[in-house]
Amino acid sequence: MDFAELYKRSIVVQGVVSAVGILILGSVVTVIYSCWISPVLAHQKLKKNGFKGPPPCFPLGNISDMRKKVAHKKSKVLPSDNHHQSLEITHDIHPIVFPYFSRWSRLYGKVFIYWLGTEPFVYVSDPEFVKQMSSGVMGKSWGKPRVFKDDRKPMFGNHGLLMVEGQDWAMANAMVDSATIMLDQWSNMLDSNNNKHEIDVENNITKMTAEIIARTSFGSNIVNDDNGRKVFEKLRAMQLALFKSTRLVGVPFSKFIYQNQTQEAKKLGQEIDEILVSIIQSRKESIGNNNDHGKDLLGIMLHDNSKNKKLSVEELVDECKTLFFSGHETTALALTWTLFLLALHPEWQNHLREEIKQVIGEGELLLNDLTNIRKLKKMGWLMNEVLRLYSAAPNVQRQAREDIQVGELIIPSGTNIWVDLVGMNHDSDLWGNDVNEFKPERFKDDTLHGGCKHKMGYLPFGFGGRMCIGRNLTIMEYKIVLILLLTRFTFTLSPSYIHSPAIMLSLRPTNGLPLIVQHV
Ligand code: HEM
Repeated sequence: MDFAELYKRSIVVQGVVSAVGILILGSVVTVIYSCWISPVLAHQKLKKNGFKGPPPCFPLGNISDMRKKVAHKKSKVLPSDNHHQSLEITHDIHPIVFPYFSRWSRLYGKVFIYWLGTEPFVYVSDPEFVKQMSSGVMGKSWGKPRVFKDDRKPMFGNHGLLMVEGQDWAMANAMVDSATIMLDQWSNMLDSNNNKHEIDVENNITKMTAEIIARTSFGSNIVNDDNGRKVFEKLRAMQLALFKSTRLVGVPFSKFIYQNQTQEAKKLGQEIDEILVSIIQSRKESIGNNNDHGKDLLGIMLHDNSKNKKLSVEELVDECKTLFFSGHETTALALTWTLFLLALHPEWQNHLREEIKQVIGEGELLLNDLTNIRKLKKMGWLMNEVLRLYSAAPNVQRQAREDIQVGELIIPSGTNIWVDLVGMNHDSDLWGNDVNEFKPERFKDDTLHGGCKHKMGYLPFGFGGRMCIGRNLTIMEYKIVLILLLTRFTFTLSPSYIHSPAIMLSLRPTNGLPLIVQHV
């Protein structure tokens, strides 16, 4: 090889080395910029805008502080009469389920800034702030946080809003059918156990509401062909993979740290998509000339789709996933916490049985007249009180789409908002000294706000344009299931129950809800 050739080669090698060097340097600069410089600048901007909050440490933000375990005395049920039981169990759950928010709000007030990795969040438990941020034109400048949207993409997809209209009659039938199957099983257990049996009510109710949403979404036949059950099981597994508390939401590159969980969620997401695509395709094929799309939620969606929107199959799949998850978990938890509180307060079981007798009568529940269900006022107060003390949906999130001024503060574009519903529901400034007591009658004269001192202090279904679309369906399901439960059974808390509510996307009893069930 002559000298000229050697020289040429060394120039090429040098070129490659410098290109690689520039690439590595570029990546390092990008990482440093996104992990440290950009969040530190954003932090300074927020501080200048008047926000206080716990000092973050990038790239984790405040996550290490949030993951610190807080020792809590776990309340156990004493094996004595029910009045005694209620004394042992605290409903003051904010410091238990959100210990860090409870601690920080004592230091920084009801609005402050904290960081999930490099994502800034404004914590809000001040209803006046919520009112100002959702008023008028400003309301349109809020979206859903990108950090959670990306995070939950395998579960909710990118889309996911649906309007449910009419069809309540067919859906009520689906609810009664699923509830009756569960209650008949309970009856059999009681019959073979001297009319007294311990049942893990949370587990049973969650399965039942999953079956209800499968039937109301895809028609009653779905429970026979296994697809509904498979979708439910896979969604549940995906929930576990996605929301394990160890995950570092908002931390750059955390996907790579939790690669196994991310991959597992992705795989489950694809499998669920395949099942849903096959359900949608076979429904489309069966529509036929009479244009009958079916009386379930999928039917409503397809009917609507043929007239107005033109959603792709991928978008329809996303809608189904949103419904399937949003539609059973929260309702199951509302019913579970209701039975927990009713077990502690047997006098309320009696009030409700009396009301059911007066409004519905003693015969079978007549499903062709659902207007009666709306007349169950005390049951309505109870639902509100349960959602206040044990909010099935513990928070509501938004993200600023542009710089937004709220009162004195400017919220920079991209900032996430975390409205702490548990915090507001347990705030004695809003509810008075009996805030942590179970008192459904507080909703008697003020059905919507239960005497809360601020009209935006009680938001179980969210607020503004993004409010829960399933609230009417859920109220119907709640009442139908409770009528069926209370007219057949009585409930007492099992001595094995451990009171340890915790957040796993929703607010759930960590160790389930074992109740002693007996025939009325
Ligand atoms: C006790 C029962 C329920 C509670 C407490 C509840 C609560 C909520 C809350 C707080 C939100 C957020 C609203 C906001 O951002 O302002 C929401 C959204 C939503 N809910 Fe519900 N919900 C319940 C039942 C249901 C049911 C039965 C369905 C469906 C049939 C449903 C479907 C949805 C959907 C589709 C969204 C919007 C999701 C999104 O935009 O990401 N919910 N719900």
